[in-house]
Amino acid sequence: MAIIETRKLTKSYGSIQAVRGVDLSIEKGEIFGLLGPNGAGKTTTIGMLCTIIRPTSGSASIAGYDIVQRPSAVRSKVGIVFQDPTLDTILTGYENLELHARLYGITSALRKKRISEMLQLVDLTDRRNDLTRTYSGGMRRRLEMARGLLHRPAALFLDEPTLGLDPQTRARIWDYIRKMARKEQTTVILTTHYMEEADQVCDRVGIIDHGQIIALNAPGNLKESMGGDLVIIRTKEPPLVKIKALPYVREVKFNDGVLEITMKDAHLHLSGLLFMIPGVECVEIRVPTLSDVFIKLTGHDIRDDSAEDSGSWIDSVARYRQKGK
Ligand SMILES: Nc1ncnc2c1ncn2[C@@H]1O[C@H](COP(=O)(O)OP(=O)(O)OP(=O)(O)O)[C@@H](O)[C@H]1O
Ligand SMILES: [Mg+2]
Repeated sequence: MAIIETRKLTKSYGSIQAVRGVDLSIEKGEIFGLLGPNGAGKTTTIGMLCTIIRPTSGSASIAGYDIVQRPSAVRSKVGIVFQDPTLDTILTGYENLELHARLYGITSALRKKRISEMLQLVDLTDRRNDLTRTYSGGMRRRLEMARGLLHRPAALFLDEPTLGLDPQTRARIWDYIRKMARKEQTTVILTTHYMEEADQVCDRVGIIDHGQIIALNAPGNLKESMGGDLVIIRTKEPPLVKIKALPYVREVKFNDGVLEITMKDAHLHLSGLLFMIPGVECVEIRVPTLSDVFIKLTGHDIRDDSAEDSGSWIDSVARYRQKGK
C-alpha cells in the first residue's frame, strides 16, 4: 500500500519553479531517497508533504489524507527532521523530547516510556540530562531523529540528515536510520546529496534536478541502466573484432592506446578478456555509481554548482541571486 502519493505536485515562487510536477508513490516501510544538487527542490517537496509549504498546484496525500484538505491529520502522521537544526539548546535532551511529546498530546503515562525507548534507540540515554548545547553535531542530529519518531509517525522525513557531519558520524547516522526504519516500521523519506550513501541505505531513489524527478528506481537498477561496468585497458593492438564478438561485451572504443570496454559483470569475465589481449600495460575497472547515473542524466556533476555543505534555501536564494548578476 502506498503511504505517500503525489500527483503533479508543483511549487513556484514568482518566476522560480522550485518543484515542477512531481509524481511519487512511496510504499509503507520503504526508505526512499530524494537525491539532487543544491536548489533542486528537495526541501520544497518535503515542506509541501509536511504541510509547511502550500503547493501552487497538483496534489498529494499521506496515509490517505490530502495535504491541503486535511493538514492537521497529515501532521499527526508525519515526523520531520529539518535541514537546519531546531533543537532547543537551553533544554536537556530529555526536556526537548518531553516538550515535543506534550505538543503532540502524548499522555504522561506513555510519555516516559516512549521517551526512554527513543533515547535508547539513538544511544543517548547517558546524556539525557545534559543541555543539548553541549552535544556534538552527530548527537544533536540523533536526538532530532528520536524526536521525529516520538509520536510514531507513519512517515519520517529527514532533510539532509548527514549534512556537515564527518564521514564516521555520517556512517553511524545511516546505521541509526536503518535501525529506526526497521524497529519502528516507519517509512523514511530522506534527502541527500551524498550519492554513495543513498546507494547503500535507500530501497529506491528519485533523482531530482531543477524541480523534476528525472529518474526513479532501486539504486541497483539505476546503475544497471548505465549499460554495465567499464573496463579501461592500456594496450597497443587489441583484437577488436574478437572482443566485440564476446557475448558479455556491450560497447568497445579504442583510441590512442586506450581500450574502453563496457561490459556486464566485469569481475566475472576480466581474466578471460585479458587472456585475449596482448601487451596489456595497465587495467582499470569502473563499476557505475549513482553519481555516474546523475552525470549521464543531467550532463553535470551533482557538486558542480553546489558548495558541498551549504544547505538552506536561503543559501540557494543567495546563489540564485549571485547567478543572476
Ligand atoms: N521561500 C522561497 N522563496 C523563494 N524561492 C525559494 C523559496 N524556497 C525555495 N526557493 C527556491 O526554490 C528552489 C528549490 O529550493 P529547495 O530549498 O527546495 O532546494 P533543495 O533541493 O532543498 O536545495 P539544497 O540542497 O540547497 O537544500 C531554489 O531555487 C530556491 O532558491
Ligand atoms: Mg534543502
